[in-house]
Amino acid sequence: MRIVVTGGSGQLARAIRETWTGHDVLCPPEAELDLSQREAIRQVLLTLKPDVVINAGAFTQVDRCETEEPLATLINGTAVTWLAEACNELDAKLVQISTDYVFDGQATRPYLETDPVAPRSAYGRTKLLGEQAARGCNRHLVARTAWLYDAWGKNFFLTMVNAARQGRALRVVADQRGTPTSCRALARQLQTVVEEDWQGLVHATCAGETTWHGFATEIFRQLAIPAELSPCTTADYPLPAPRPAYSVLDGAHRRALGTDQMPTWEQALTEVVDDFQRASSGTGPA
Ligand SMILES: NC(=O)c1ccc[n+]([C@@H]2O[C@H](COP(=O)([O-])OP(=O)(O)OC[C@H]3O[C@@H](n4cnc5c(N)ncnc54)[C@H](OP(=O)(O)O)[C@@H]3O)[C@@H](O)[C@H]2O)c1
Repeated sequence: MRIVVTGGSGQLARAIRETWTGHDVLCPPEAELDLSQREAIRQVLLTLKPDVVINAGAFTQVDRCETEEPLATLINGTAVTWLAEACNELDAKLVQISTDYVFDGQATRPYLETDPVAPRSAYGRTKLLGEQAARGCNRHLVARTAWLYDAWGKNFFLTMVNAARQGRALRVVADQRGTPTSCRALARQLQTVVEEDWQGLVHATCAGETTWHGFATEIFRQLAIPAELSPCTTADYPLPAPRPAYSVLDGAHRRALGTDQMPTWEQALTEVVDDFQRASSGTGPA
């Protein structure tokens, strides 16, 4: 199959490019496929003729979305309408990557695919528009994920490692719960999703749950980096966009649909750490 992944410079797009086998995977960067341009979307897709479009491109800067909601709405919401239109013209499938931010973050047990959405941030509102727009594609799947990271890109894992290497003391929030999910684990699950032609809505994170502080603790334990790490609360560091206090996603629908490949978040971290250490020591790909 020919797969086009939008947001080709992003961390998830890179993971898809690196992990998928047996398919023709094209990851045009924003300069070649700008989601804010309706005609460009149509032209590029009609030229490339994909069987599947994975929309991994997004305005992902959560705090900037609060002050730039119209632009975030264009990229995260309206653009998905245009992708859906082009996919319908090609009879292609649209896989829309979405987020735990569509929920209110007030739950006390993992969110099911059937739970009501109630975003509290501009980012969450715009991503919810994207989910709704994806349903305009005759063949679509919405995959919600959370807490993405890998050995590349801009993410919490690399932020922690770089800060610790600089010898900075770290205070990390210990009152938000979620599931760290490596891009490569999600990418492998997405390959199965596409090959088995799943439809509808699924939650796709690694298994288990922790806090950001718990995640940082495990990163430093697995990397054997001594770090000065202490817990703090969300209230200690007010940010423009509200963060969900609880964003664990239950993948009940994913498990019912077929092959569940998501490892525990600790197993996924080990794979990323091994890769990161090989790259750092010059014995593996950067
Ligand atoms: N990161 C997470 O923790 C997380 C959690 C839940 C869901 N998600 C979702 O997962 C998907 C992948 O996220 P990610 O972590 O890979 O994010 P990412 O690394 O920020 O990648 C997003 C990519 O989209 C690109 N982009 C921005 N505006 C664009 C435009 N107008 N046209 C085309 N591309 C554009 C960005 O380019 P620039 O770098 O040049 O801006 C970036 O390369 C997104 O849909 C995101 O909403 C992410």
